[in-house]
Amino acid sequence: MKTNLKMNKKIYILLFSAVILFNNVAKADEGMWFLMFLEKNNMRDMSKAGLKLTAEEIYSINNSSLKDAIVQFNGGCTGEIISKDGLVLTNHHCGYDAIAELSTPEKNYLKDGYWATDKSQELKPRSLFVRFFVRMDNVTSRMLGVLNDTMTEARRDIVLNQEVAKIQKENDGGGKYTVSVRGFFQGNEYYYFVYQDYKDVRFVGTPTESVGKFGGDVDNWEWPRHTGDFSLFRVYADKDGNPAEYSKDNVPLKPKKFLTINLQGVKENDFAMILGYPGRTNRWMPAQGIEQNVKFAYPAWVEASKTGMDNMKKYMDKDANVNLKYASQYARIANYWKNRQGMIDALTKHETVKLKTAQEVKFNAWANKKENVGKYGNVISNINKYYGMTNEKARHDNYLSLLFRSSNLLTFAMVGKQLETYANADTTKRKELLLVLKNAINSYFETAYAPAERDILIAQLNLYSSKATGHGLAPIVADLAKANNNNFTNYVNNALTLSMFTSKERLMAFLELPNASMATGDPLYNLASKMAEHSRFKSEELKTAENDYLKAYRLFVEGLQKSNPKGKFYPDANSTLRLTYGKVRALPADKRNDAKVNNYTTLDGMVKKHKENDPEFFLSQSVRDLYAKKDYGRYADKAGYMPVNFLTDNDITGGNSGSPVLNGKGELIGLAFDGNIEAMAGDVIFDNKLQRTINCDIRFVLWTIEKIGGANNIINELTIVQ
Ligand code: ARG
Repeated sequence: MKTNLKMNKKIYILLFSAVILFNNVAKADEGMWFLMFLEKNNMRDMSKAGLKLTAEEIYSINNSSLKDAIVQFNGGCTGEIISKDGLVLTNHHCGYDAIAELSTPEKNYLKDGYWATDKSQELKPRSLFVRFFVRMDNVTSRMLGVLNDTMTEARRDIVLNQEVAKIQKENDGGGKYTVSVRGFFQGNEYYYFVYQDYKDVRFVGTPTESVGKFGGDVDNWEWPRHTGDFSLFRVYADKDGNPAEYSKDNVPLKPKKFLTINLQGVKENDFAMILGYPGRTNRWMPAQGIEQNVKFAYPAWVEASKTGMDNMKKYMDKDANVNLKYASQYARIANYWKNRQGMIDALTKHETVKLKTAQEVKFNAWANKKENVGKYGNVISNINKYYGMTNEKARHDNYLSLLFRSSNLLTFAMVGKQLETYANADTTKRKELLLVLKNAINSYFETAYAPAERDILIAQLNLYSSKATGHGLAPIVADLAKANNNNFTNYVNNALTLSMFTSKERLMAFLELPNASMATGDPLYNLASKMAEHSRFKSEELKTAENDYLKAYRLFVEGLQKSNPKGKFYPDANSTLRLTYGKVRALPADKRNDAKVNNYTTLDGMVKKHKENDPEFFLSQSVRDLYAKKDYGRYADKAGYMPVNFLTDNDITGGNSGSPVLNGKGELIGLAFDGNIEAMAGDVIFDNKLQRTINCDIRFVLWTIEKIGGANNIINELTIVQ
């Protein structure tokens, strides 16, 4: 009995650790892959799964390839080119900010939708850019070659940055390109990326918000889903096809490549791949880092987000104009408010910390082997020491960062620093700064609503001062809290009266007659800058621990790979172009979805969700009318229904929003726009059973453009295969 038990336990540990030590080795559909290594890492697998293209047809330096049709959209999303005239398809929530900016209560494109009937109707938002990917290359040996083992992390950064500057200069084509050198695998590898940015991007069309954001925050991150999350833009260039500032003489870009659209529809197990710009994953994150997020950072993030949201919402609901001003900021905060709570829940439920801890125990055994101990012996203890020291700081910093992210006023008050510089500058320098400052001032007063800003700031200061005490408050806040009985109402009201950041006239007067001490002495600038300074502050002890941690984390990731020489690894997402492949894949049957297979949803389901007086579930009358007539044109599924969304098991994250979902021939079948809440731990640990990508069926997109929008001009631009 006894031996048996012992025996079983040993086998169990062996099996268990084989799985967990190597959980960053990609399985099945996990992985966000570099395009330059497809041949080496993925082609065999992808071809078996249904890909009909060659690696060269996806990524080629010399010939046009799929990658030329993919853009990073305004820095944080993905889009794809779908016509020979530079038409860009992306998500509604990616175009949201621009659409809101171009709207007024009278011409409300967010609410009522918009379809440019010809190119002269296309609208230019203040700033919007798309980025094309030109090429990438490995510069690991060159970058690591300038380092040595005795350097501190800070020294390392300095030396690396010098090398980055050289690589940028060598590859920027004399200013034509933007070159970005990025670290991967926690600084064990380096690659550079060459991009070309186009800044004249115009708004072409969008469905109403009641389609584009159908289900609102209730359905956000959820399946079954019925959202037409798409919008259209167009890239303009000068007459030679080069990037240019906005001009009425600019012409639609003739892209190197645009996507063909396939209307055949999807079924379970169909091959599906996604190219795009995933923002951030932390799949190598140590156990205690996850623990810190779950227990300290994310709860603060969630609570402070909600505080900001509630104080915006009460004014947004009262006034259409205020609603337009705050819609985009609100949506951005709400999106990650729900995401972070989802992460807390999923990481807790799946006991991810326990799993990762077991992995680290195993790693530590390997690290303490005679041949490894010198290099890796302290890795785990240095990592854990750092997290132990920074838990309360993480909580503090998250309250603070959401305070700034929701308080436009306090963020704006940081301009005080530039005002000081302006006051101290000579006339030439002043002239230069004047334009920048005027723009910042104008754009703040165009977008902020004073009563909301006051309430946000009061509520956030009250929250911060009561909840971030474990780390220690910024002294200025601690003093004010004491003097005001922990209630910032009076203090804020007074500060708003005294500060110049609440009055455009005062700021303009300052620009006429600048005075440095008036800028730095401003109560709001003073508050903002001292709070920011407090969160940047690090004791000597913390600096040392952080230095050791950064080094340890790098060695941890390196060691995990070294201890598994046969593994096929992919780096964490960091807003660089990746490919993920998988298939159309259902989730277990769900009675909320009346589709035959739980891998798609239909217009029937969407109409059933419609609620007359619910701003999140109100569905446009025009959609309901067409539904009543079953007017689906060529976009209906063979089975007769109108498809809306579908599921694949691709590995994506925020930033992939708007990415094309492509079939085996590289034709567009959908538009990725979301993930599912039950797999929200995915950014830290990929869940093979649960993780899904939620996509908008391209047939629904085209149906909306043609039948709801009546925009045949757009349909006629597309290349469609039936
Ligand atoms: N969850 C989506 C993403 O991060 C954004 C969806 C926006 N919709 C919304 N209801 N806030 O890509």
